[in-house]
Amino acid sequence: SIPLFTTVAAFRQWRQAARKENKSVGFVPTMGALHDGHMSLVRKSLADNDLTVLSIFVNPAQFAPHEDLTTYPRTLPRDLEVLSAESVSVPSTTDSIIRTTSAVFLPTVQEMYPSGIDQNVAAQQGTFIEVKGYSAQMEGKTRPSFFRGVATVVTKLFNAVEPDNAYFGQKDIQQCLIIKRLARDILLSHPSPHNIHIVPTARDPASNLALSSRNAYLSADGRNAAPALYRALRVAEQAWTDGLTKSVCIQRAAEVIRETASAAANGDLEIRLDYIEFNDSDSLEPLGDVRCAEPNSNSPPLLLSGAMWIGKTRLIDNIVLGSL
Ligand code: PAJ
Repeated sequence: SIPLFTTVAAFRQWRQAARKENKSVGFVPTMGALHDGHMSLVRKSLADNDLTVLSIFVNPAQFAPHEDLTTYPRTLPRDLEVLSAESVSVPSTTDSIIRTTSAVFLPTVQEMYPSGIDQNVAAQQGTFIEVKGYSAQMEGKTRPSFFRGVATVVTKLFNAVEPDNAYFGQKDIQQCLIIKRLARDILLSHPSPHNIHIVPTARDPASNLALSSRNAYLSADGRNAAPALYRALRVAEQAWTDGLTKSVCIQRAAEVIRETASAAANGDLEIRLDYIEFNDSDSLEPLGDVRCAEPNSNSPPLLLSGAMWIGKTRLIDNIVLGSL
């Protein structure tokens, strides 16, 4: 079975041994309730590195007091089974090597927050990392201290694990960009900013619904409605490439969500678009009400992202227009 480390000190001994043997270490931070989206990051890390470490830590600092910290799915025994079953075969000079996850880092809240942690920002003590000017747009509009919590815990995890490479999912595109910027800003060396990798969003093959631990909250009706978010983003993308203005693209996407909401209208399931927006991937600022620029302009890629409510569950998704 995969070695489990619950303290930073114990994990560091393992890390020290890996360094002595000159083994490269890939790192996949998670909050558990593993699904195939997480596993696509694990597979990439297994393919790229001698050793792979996955962390599971439900980080209190990234949940606002009214959010789902206590009900967030915790499925550790199943997570460990799923991880043990995953392997990647890599060619070697003689034959091929089968790689599996080498270690799971499962710290306690006390280990990660020695000064304690209060979900209420005003009551917090201790040290926090903020990526200013980059955390208030998009997801930060609805979740004002979310990225502060993410940046803080990821910095701590990086300091504990000291990976050569780290893997994040495009499903959380703003998180990816914030972590890359944070790594650049604090002169991080393990991993260095260019060794922070963005892995494409894994989707349910039948519906294209982005896989997410929060999908577990959905009822059967909710599951049926959830793929509307990606459908809406694709409609907006098409309208954009057809040369329509941003506001029209967003209106068309909103229409898809409204249709889904009325089709699913059975009284007790409220389906609501939170937002659809186009943002510049360099500044994260929303676009003005413009149209798709002429081809061969060298403007940075655009983020077309959105969030929707299905009952009390909030789902997010995005499409990158251009390549990051
Ligand atoms: P969590 O939601 O568990 O996600 C862990 C990693 O898996 C993140 O990088 C996320 O983007 C990626 N992921 C989730 N769903 C995915 C999908 N469908 N396709 C590809 N990748 C996917 O994100 C977090 O945890 C936390 O914020 C964390 C970074 C661990 C800090 O607490």
